[in-house]
Formats: sequence, structure tokens, C-alpha cells
Amino acid sequence: MLPVVYVLNGPNLNLLGVREPEIYGSETLADLRARAEAEAERNGVTLDFRQSNIEGELVNWVQEARSKAKGIIINAGAYTHTSVAILDALQAAELPVIEVHLSNIFRRDQFRQHSYVSLAATGVICGLGGTGYELAIKAMAGILGAKSQKSA
Ligand code: DQA
Repeated sequence: MLPVVYVLNGPNLNLLGVREPEIYGSETLADLRARAEAEAERNGVTLDFRQSNIEGELVNWVQEARSKAKGIIINAGAYTHTSVAILDALQAAELPVIEVHLSNIFRRDQFRQHSYVSLAATGVICGLGGTGYELAIKAMAGILGAKSQKSA
């Protein structure tokens, strides 16, 4: 059984591809998911890839991950900058957490430069578009000691 990693996506990420492409790129969430799944296969982990616009649903999924997953990769969208509830859930999960953002939140509005999620994150990747998801999966597989296809 390969380790399961939850990949959780927050509000408005369902609009990728049409939403401010100059900031978020032209790839859709389905495109990102396909790239992520391919990277997961190469790195010996299984993904559970989800998106929600609802804060409480993200909290429920983080709680669920505690027993069902070995790690969490999260792009909490705007909730990154506002949600103590998601932070609390991540801290309670006691799992490795990698925070991802498509855009470089540090060269944008001031309010995006603080992340509650970071307080629970093992590592943070931002500004690299969809490649950030691939890098997060590779890093998570390393943290979990998953057996990559190349070394198998
Ligand atoms: C984002 C950055 C957030 O500030 C923003 O609210 C998003 C997307 C990103 O992936 O760059 O919705 O998380």
C-alpha cells in the first residue's frame, strides 16, 4: 500500500484557467491534478486531490486526513491569510504539511504576505505555478520515505 497524501485546494481554485491568468496561469485545476497524479506515480505516493470553496469543508478534510493520510499538501487560497480554523486543524492533524501557492504571495498585496497555514507547514512553495504542486509531491514523498519508481 502506497502512502496516501491529501492535496487540498481552497476557494476559487476551481476557476483556474479563466481566473486572472496573468497571475495564476492558463492551466485548469484538472490540468494541475493530472500533473500531480503523474508526479505521485513517479514518487510512490497515492493522492486524494480535492477542492472546496467552503472553509468548514476544508477543516473537515484536514481532520479526516489525520487518520486517512500520511501527509497534507494544501493551497488554502484566500483562507491562507484568514483562517485560524484551518491552522488549528492542521496543527491537530500531526502530519507533515506542505503549503503551496501558484503565485508568489510575497510580491503581491500586503495582506497576502501573512499565512496562517505557514505556522503549521513543514515547508512552503510559492510562485512556481503548477510546478509547485509537483515539487511539493516530490518533497512529501521524500519526507514519507516513499519508494520512487526510479529506485524501485
Ligand atoms: C493563492 C494565493 C492567494 O493569496 C489567493 O487568495 C488564491 C490563490 C495562490 O495559489 O497563489 O486564491 O493561494
